[in-house]
Amino acid sequence: MLIDTYGRTATDLRVSLTDRCNLRCTYCMPEEGLQWLGKPELLTDDEIVRLITIAVTELGVTDVRFTGGEPLLRPGLVSIVARCAGLRPRPRMSLTSNGIGLRRTAAALREAGLDRVNVSLDTLRPEVFKALTRRDRHRDVLDGLAAARDAGLTPVKVNTVLMPGLNGDEAPELLAWALEHGYELRFIEQMPLDAQHGWKRDGMITAGHILAALRTRFTLEPEGDERRGSAPAERWIVDGGPARVGVIASVTRPFCRACDRTRLTADGQVRTCLFAREETDLRGALRSGAPDEEIAGLWRTAMWGKKAGSGLDDPDFLQPDRPMSSIGG
Ligand code: GTP
Ligand code: 5AD
Ligand code: SF4
Repeated sequence: MLIDTYGRTATDLRVSLTDRCNLRCTYCMPEEGLQWLGKPELLTDDEIVRLITIAVTELGVTDVRFTGGEPLLRPGLVSIVARCAGLRPRPRMSLTSNGIGLRRTAAALREAGLDRVNVSLDTLRPEVFKALTRRDRHRDVLDGLAAARDAGLTPVKVNTVLMPGLNGDEAPELLAWALEHGYELRFIEQMPLDAQHGWKRDGMITAGHILAALRTRFTLEPEGDERRGSAPAERWIVDGGPARVGVIASVTRPFCRACDRTRLTADGQVRTCLFAREETDLRGALRSGAPDEEIAGLWRTAMWGKKAGSGLDDPDFLQPDRPMSSIGG
């Protein structure tokens, strides 16, 4: 098991498969992109499967989420999913994607054993999408979402970050659209994880703002803490149900006390938290021939050092050096 000194157990592993992305969201990275990891630094497909196998068979991980950057840019994704589907106990597997490649890959991913997907979509307006992501791919995302739903990668969740002056007024229309298409919408508070370090607390759109905007058009009843478990999203029942809407309020209503996550970066570093400043190198251990038991031990030790919370509210909070796209969202 992966236990920390605050009594939490990490059963949810987030694996970043690449730090690259085919969008350039302004809250994530600069127009020119980042200094991408080189091939020798990236874990190979075999190394990834080996680490997931150790996590699932020796460390009690039950849920595996593939992230990026954009995980669909990793050529071996479908085969990695298929190999992980063969593990016993079989982990639940999900993917967080910008949606662009899903039209092509959704059916193959489902066939390989992927259970569900979360797709980022911040706006219903193509011109706002272009300003926000610096790419003209809005249609591809909408098509990818539909392909995921049709392939049975459900529930399909949609992640939306609202920013003032761009898409800040779209909450009600996004929810109406999600209800119409059968997607579960979640709004995410913007976090200080951008490569440019441009995040400011002042002026950010908070859970409070979002709920007030939604209530101008919908009735919302809290779903309650019993159903939430360790999920980052707080959920509300929309217009009497069965539809739900979620808010991931990492800044104003942090959920660190219930956190059940451990993370693996594309270059084989364990991170205990999105906001951690330390990493534990499993790639070096793998490549120097360490047996499974030794790697499991390094992972356990890393998690034992997990901090109580993100530290976002500490006066001396320091943003982690790695941006979100390279940690794995
Ligand atoms: P499910 O609800 O199980 O589908 O997963 P999820 O919401 O954790 O997955 P997703 O990859 O869609 O993540 C959505 C957002 O949750 C991310 O963009 C982050 O904003 C937030 N999030 C995910 N993991 C963490 C975490 O460890 N800490 C914090 N503070 N936020 C997280
Ligand atoms: N703050 C909040 N969410 C972010 N995402 C990327 N960068 C940030 C940030 N700075 C979101 C993406 C995606 C999810 C994995 O993380 O939009 O939906
Ligand atoms: Fe790519 Fe996601 Fe970053 Fe947007 S937020 S640039 S989709 S990694």
